[in-house]
Amino acid sequence: MCGIVAYVGSRNAQPILLDALSRLEYRGYDSAGLAILNGHGVEVRKKSGRIENLAKACQAKPISGSMGISHTRWATHGAPTDSNAHPHLDASGKLALVHNGVIENFLELKEKLSKAGHTFQSDTDTEVLAHCLGDAYAKSQAKGEARLLEAVRQTFNQIHGTMGIAVIHSDLPGLVVGARRGSPLVIGVGQGENFLASDTQALAPYTNRVVILKDLEIVALHADRFDVSSPLGSNTQIKVEEIENGMIHSDKGSHPHFMLKEIMEQPRSIENAFRGRLDRDGGTTKLGGLNMSADQLRQIQRISVLGCGTALHSGMVGKYLIEDLAKIPVETQHASEFRYGDSPVSRHTLFLAVSQSGETADTLGALREAQRRGYPCLGICNNVASSIARESDGGVYMHAGPEIGVAATKSFTSQVMVFALLGLLLGRHHQLSANHGAELLDAIVQLPEKIRQTLKHSDSVARVAKTYAHSRSMLFLGRLANFPIALEGALKMKEITYLHAEGYPSAELKHGVIAMIDKETPTVLIATQDGVYDKNLGSLQEIKARGGPVIAVAEEGDSKIQGLADAVLQVPKTHELLQPILNVIPLQLFSYHTAVALGRDVDKPRNLAKSVTVE
Ligand code: F6R
Repeated sequence: MCGIVAYVGSRNAQPILLDALSRLEYRGYDSAGLAILNGHGVEVRKKSGRIENLAKACQAKPISGSMGISHTRWATHGAPTDSNAHPHLDASGKLALVHNGVIENFLELKEKLSKAGHTFQSDTDTEVLAHCLGDAYAKSQAKGEARLLEAVRQTFNQIHGTMGIAVIHSDLPGLVVGARRGSPLVIGVGQGENFLASDTQALAPYTNRVVILKDLEIVALHADRFDVSSPLGSNTQIKVEEIENGMIHSDKGSHPHFMLKEIMEQPRSIENAFRGRLDRDGGTTKLGGLNMSADQLRQIQRISVLGCGTALHSGMVGKYLIEDLAKIPVETQHASEFRYGDSPVSRHTLFLAVSQSGETADTLGALREAQRRGYPCLGICNNVASSIARESDGGVYMHAGPEIGVAATKSFTSQVMVFALLGLLLGRHHQLSANHGAELLDAIVQLPEKIRQTLKHSDSVARVAKTYAHSRSMLFLGRLANFPIALEGALKMKEITYLHAEGYPSAELKHGVIAMIDKETPTVLIATQDGVYDKNLGSLQEIKARGGPVIAVAEEGDSKIQGLADAVLQVPKTHELLQPILNVIPLQLFSYHTAVALGRDVDKPRNLAKSVTVE
């Protein structure tokens, strides 16, 4: 997790580091810090809390210098305090380090260093890494730049875990050394200045020319040049890429929060997901990035979807879509569980790694594991330059645009749309008729307008949210493809309001959860008119019989539900396979308005980060 930025050039480093860092806050925001070479040595400022706290400290006492490193943190080892914030110094106080990743054997290393007389100021694994680097530097016989590079290489061999690092040393002005193992790192190529960052978005105002470092590569960065080498020290070939997406820097527009903006963007983001991909005549879709022939598509006998959190929920909806359209059995797995599990995988299985960021460590690890076992793996990602997008054998981009709010909203609906497109394509290579394909295509084309219609109910959802915002706990129920929508509704509620919420298949109610029902515990029941509508009405009655309030997600004009439920969140009707996309929208709005009513920090909820780049 965490985001790092480094700068070397001729401009004042402090404002550049603070600005670039603010674009990485989605990777963590519990503390931040920077270190700059000020002409005499390394000067450090670090503060717990948001980057704005660090900015205030820097304004009060600016550091002057034209090279430095910086970091925004999501705590893994040690509480989010000033002393645990990065950068960390080595024993000499001359070497400063920022780190994104986790050092798994840090306790062992710390013990060894402590015995050798090292003392530590923080509880972090990163400070141990800084001391290891400083130790290797002190013992090295090499001179100048080569000495720091050798120290990094030697330390690489000592540690278990992941790291994207940037290091400076006061004896080596004009040099930043960066290295990666597991965690992403990119070089931003400027004119008379160069940058390092955890991702390209940080560099948007400064350059669109980037080098995406490969795993285990080390870079020696100067203002006018950079050299990339392998762990063994040989120079490696680099490719400078020009990126477009990185230049997009989102703002909230007229919305009070990114989350609301992104919910409201869904008519457009859904359209972007299917634009140019529909083939009305063939009753199918065109997905150019799959890199699979028609024969290979026909040979798929099983699909395994890997993802985490919201991305996994989209895969769970995707399972219903693909099984219905293509009659191919689909299983969904928490990426983190697949990675270390022993479950057998049958031959002719296609893996799909779903990830908005494309950087989620658990999903990336699971993708690599599936590839190691020799299975074809496709990525469903939003972030075009991401690790999962680059490492998978092919894939489908969501084209949802930047998602800044920590709670995933538009990426979820875009992911489900991608599953619909994929289901159609696979269906047409298996047994689906062109007519059935065309029916779904017609519904897809009409979906943006139906989403617009759904979003018009935002104010009435806000009123319902206000009524129930002070509940201690909520249940979310749905069946079949709407069960993952219930899970997603509960996840949104938990992460941005901190209320206890649980998602269940409606019929599971009577197997235990019903004990939770009382007049203080509202149940959100997804009950649109599908094949299990009557069954859902049965669950509704069971809840009402026990005095529990029911908030139903139901179709506009459903008078039956209106007569039974305490509140109704209305959605228009669409093709049954696409209905989950509409049904999740009032739940996104419901959690959003509840969080606002409770005065929560909607876009940056506590303890979370947008992109989870550690295991
Ligand atoms: C929930 C949420 C998380 C992410 C999960 C995977 O709102 O945002 O559950 O869905 O961390 O992230 P990606 O999709 O980037 O792999």
